[in-house]
Amino acid sequence: MQDRRIKNILTAEPLKQKIEVRGWLRTRRDARDFSFLEINDGSCLDNLQVIASSDLENFKDIVLKLHTGCSVLVAGVLRKSPAKGQTVELHADRIEVYGWADPESYPLQKKRHSFEFLRNIAHLRPRTNSLGAIARIRSSLSYAVHQFFRDHGFIHVHTPIITTIDCEGAGEMFRVSAPSHFLKDNSEEPRDSEFFGKPANLTVSGQLQAEVYAMALGNVYTFGPTFRAENSNTSRHLSEFWMVEPEMAFCDLSENMALAESFLQYLVRHVLEKDSLDMSLFAKFIDKKLFAKLDKVIENPFVRITYTEAVAILQKADKNFEFPVRWGTDLQAEHERYLCEIVFNQPVFITDYPKDIKPFYMRVNADGKTVAAMDLLLPGLGEIIGGSQREERYDVLVARMQELRLNLEEYRWYLDLRAFGTAPHSGFGLGFERFLQFVTAMNNIREVIPFPRTPGSALY
Ligand code: 4AD
Ligand code: MG
Repeated sequence: MQDRRIKNILTAEPLKQKIEVRGWLRTRRDARDFSFLEINDGSCLDNLQVIASSDLENFKDIVLKLHTGCSVLVAGVLRKSPAKGQTVELHADRIEVYGWADPESYPLQKKRHSFEFLRNIAHLRPRTNSLGAIARIRSSLSYAVHQFFRDHGFIHVHTPIITTIDCEGAGEMFRVSAPSHFLKDNSEEPRDSEFFGKPANLTVSGQLQAEVYAMALGNVYTFGPTFRAENSNTSRHLSEFWMVEPEMAFCDLSENMALAESFLQYLVRHVLEKDSLDMSLFAKFIDKKLFAKLDKVIENPFVRITYTEAVAILQKADKNFEFPVRWGTDLQAEHERYLCEIVFNQPVFITDYPKDIKPFYMRVNADGKTVAAMDLLLPGLGEIIGGSQREERYDVLVARMQELRLNLEEYRWYLDLRAFGTAPHSGFGLGFERFLQFVTAMNNIREVIPFPRTPGSALY
């Protein structure tokens, strides 16, 4: 007696063997002398078809009462399927029920549900085809991220979740504090009112700590959850999201972009090759042009233009933007989409933004007005990557931090990296959920993370 998951059974299992399968019933259809059961165990998109003959001893009492959502064990013999739609089928000689699902109250019925509806039952939605496929693709791409960096000699660094700095300087941080009874002290000694002795927050980016390790190990990356208390309730923003952040010593902006390009193309190639069954679902139901769109990304080099060039193109554009384009202001989503989708119809790197709209750590260019920044924009999505060459010159960095009224003492350790053995270095951050949105063509970012956190919502 062998025990197998459906993914293996459908691809590799020899016929005529006796096997056992465990999973959840998707559908039951009754014919004259038997029932067809579709079983899914989450190992792949496809179901296993089970033939349950009316000869089974519990046919009337159990089999005919099975409904969508029940969990079952089926033992039987695998045979070649005579019908279209599947290659093999399992002829059951024993069926047991682990758990019933009352058809009156089980929210997942056979029909297609809207993604908004499924979001409100996020504890059951991974049992649907689409959310199950997203979960497998997410896992597969997470593995590919590590594989890519490992193959390129990068060291994985675990940067902290709780920190006392504000990497992006945008102040969009969640405060971390301890319960007040913990902080009220019964002893005579005065205690700090802060658990960590000073205000702490959930990290918005692991970059500054990754820089520490890059300045010792050369090429490093961090991949973890990051948190932003932005009040943006859009289809592209989460309050908790995952970011991949490589950081490279002895690396300038153009090498940084070359790495970002080959990383992104690697991930797209990976998902097309390794997850083709799950991907076919999105190409069929969400975006018919999905494969063509992804092929284009791996076949063509990305466009590279400066912010100043982008502004010139937008100002000449034959289009009325809601937000006017003026050198010195940040590009809006409508501008990014115009460049990416109308002008180039390709991924576009925009470089050398005005320093006043970018964080303190970016390297100031020779013009004194712009910084060695790069954003990568994807058609249909917008910004996927933000990165830069870092300011490695001690005096320039201090001047910049003073301009922005940052507390130099708080960043003494960061300045030390420039005081002792400084070196040019660069890195970027890729929003993992935004990338998942791109490859699955899902419209809303809340569908590509298991339990989305957004302003006003943190279920489970
Ligand atoms: O452009 P950002 O803010 O860059 C940084 O945090 C740098 N410290 C990265 C680095 O250089 N190491 O964020 C990077 C990416 C964005 O391009 C976007 O894809 C994603 O993170 N991102 C979000 N994704 C989902 N929800 C949000 N609220 C996001 N904010 C940023
Ligand atoms: Mg950014």
